[in-house]
Amino acid sequence: MGETLQSVAGFSVEPLDKSFGAVVRDIELRELDAATFDDLYETWLEYGLLVFPGQHLSTSEQMTFARRFGDLVEELKAVHISNVKPDGSLRDAPDDDMMKIIRGNMFWHQDSTYMPVQAKGAVFSAHVVPKAQGDTAFSDMRDAYDALDDAMKERIADMSAYHSLVYSQRAVGEETKKNDSEYFGYGMDVADVPRRPLVKIHPETGRPALAVGRHAYGIPGLSDTESSELIDELNRFAVADERRIYQHRWSVGDVVLWDNRCLMHRACEWDFSEPRVMLHSRIAGDPESEAAL
Ligand SMILES: [Fe+2]
Repeated sequence: MGETLQSVAGFSVEPLDKSFGAVVRDIELRELDAATFDDLYETWLEYGLLVFPGQHLSTSEQMTFARRFGDLVEELKAVHISNVKPDGSLRDAPDDDMMKIIRGNMFWHQDSTYMPVQAKGAVFSAHVVPKAQGDTAFSDMRDAYDALDDAMKERIADMSAYHSLVYSQRAVGEETKKNDSEYFGYGMDVADVPRRPLVKIHPETGRPALAVGRHAYGIPGLSDTESSELIDELNRFAVADERRIYQHRWSVGDVVLWDNRCLMHRACEWDFSEPRVMLHSRIAGDPESEAAL
């Protein structure tokens, strides 16, 4: 951790010892005045990832907080990402579609890139955590882009890739069967597969970020083999340096806010015989800047 900074509005910001991210304390997310929110928004844009320990927000408080950053994705205003069924029993069947999505999301990705408009960000909080593991990892795609050599920057400057959740689930052997499952099928039925640039310019900061992840495939102009080799290479490169990766070990009550326009993330393994209950609120992207090509 770096030196603690005090914001204008009074909360403290402790930068992670990474290329991104900060821990924010001395703030009550359930009662932010306008000036504090403005200051927090600027802090979010700068660090990309903010961690708020011990907030213990209720579902409605989390939605109210997330809603200040933009409209919420209709289907994902407050969803449990969890291996616990509504009746309290554990999802442990290998063919449970919810578990297939959870296992798929253990590979690096950005949220909703497979939708016509990708997500702006998310608020994510811990409600039940396993004794060990079950972390969430984040990677800084601004730093990844900056670290590419000039030849690669030039090579990918005008490239794009298709993004599909059907593709990415199949690629890791976790195809869902949406007709006979409790998974509600978000993202599994996109008629026009979106195509997105490999280099995304952040609409608010202007910083370029590498944009690949597990949903990306089929770069136009390349063969399937060339395309998957390049995407694999970029995905490996993006997470090859510890300084641009942060893995959060959850405590109950923690809240995390991330900028989906410049970070990738992934769920980390845990023992599925233990419950893990997380609450996810997805902030919708601005169609002006987050729409597909
Ligand atoms: Fe995700």
